[in-house]
Amino acid sequence: MTRRNSPKTILNNSRTCDALNMKDQLETPEAIKDQIWRELSRATQDRHHAWRTPVFATTGLDGTVNARTLVLRAVDRQANQFQIYTDSRSSKAEEITQQKNAMFVFWSKKLNWQLRVRVNVNVSTNSSHAQTLWQQVKQTASASDYTSTSAPGIPISSEVQAVQQNEMHATHFAVITADVIEMDWLELASNGHRRARISLDAWTWLTP
Ligand SMILES: Cc1cc2nc3c(=O)[nH]c(=O)nc-3n(C[C@H](O)[C@H](O)[C@H](O)COP(=O)(O)O)c2cc1C
Repeated sequence: MTRRNSPKTILNNSRTCDALNMKDQLETPEAIKDQIWRELSRATQDRHHAWRTPVFATTGLDGTVNARTLVLRAVDRQANQFQIYTDSRSSKAEEITQQKNAMFVFWSKKLNWQLRVRVNVNVSTNSSHAQTLWQQVKQTASASDYTSTSAPGIPISSEVQAVQQNEMHATHFAVITADVIEMDWLELASNGHRRARISLDAWTWLTP
């Protein structure tokens, strides 16, 4: 596989920064990191962004792996955090109270980027933050995702059994806050794939 020029090589190519086009700007770790956070932020706003629905992997209560698709609700670069919503009775909510280490996996065919994000998670239901968010969510169609009388994953008598809804005050809405520990970024490109490990204060290029 052909490796593309390293950022150092490109900057040594006697071109000024002004001459760098958009793609070249993404040669510097800082530019790539900025773009990653920009895409994550866009994904929370744009229903069609591929990164809106990452896979979230946890450790099951029996120690086996568990993973599912979720909607990325918010990101905060300053706080280095992601936010997702769930039902407090779900398996994932129970699992992360036992084991806080988890991982998000994002893939975008448009960007040709995979992003794996190792996180430390916390689930909150009664915090003022969760309560404030619920006041907004309960006005939306997805409110019913958090108000069924029966917990997610509980067997039902038939595939069409109507989901019974609690009164709106009986919510099981929960916010999962994920503190980013480390990212593993992979770019697929015909002129050479690139991969890097990105921690809070370090950037390490890796063999893709
Ligand atoms: C596109 C898509 C988006 C989803 N978004 C969420 C979400 O934001 N929160 C959530 O709890 N489950 C979401 N789900 C359902 C989960 O994938 C999963 O089936 C459910 O939460 C039960 O998971 P658990 O038993 O591992 O807790 C989504 C599923 C799909 C297909």
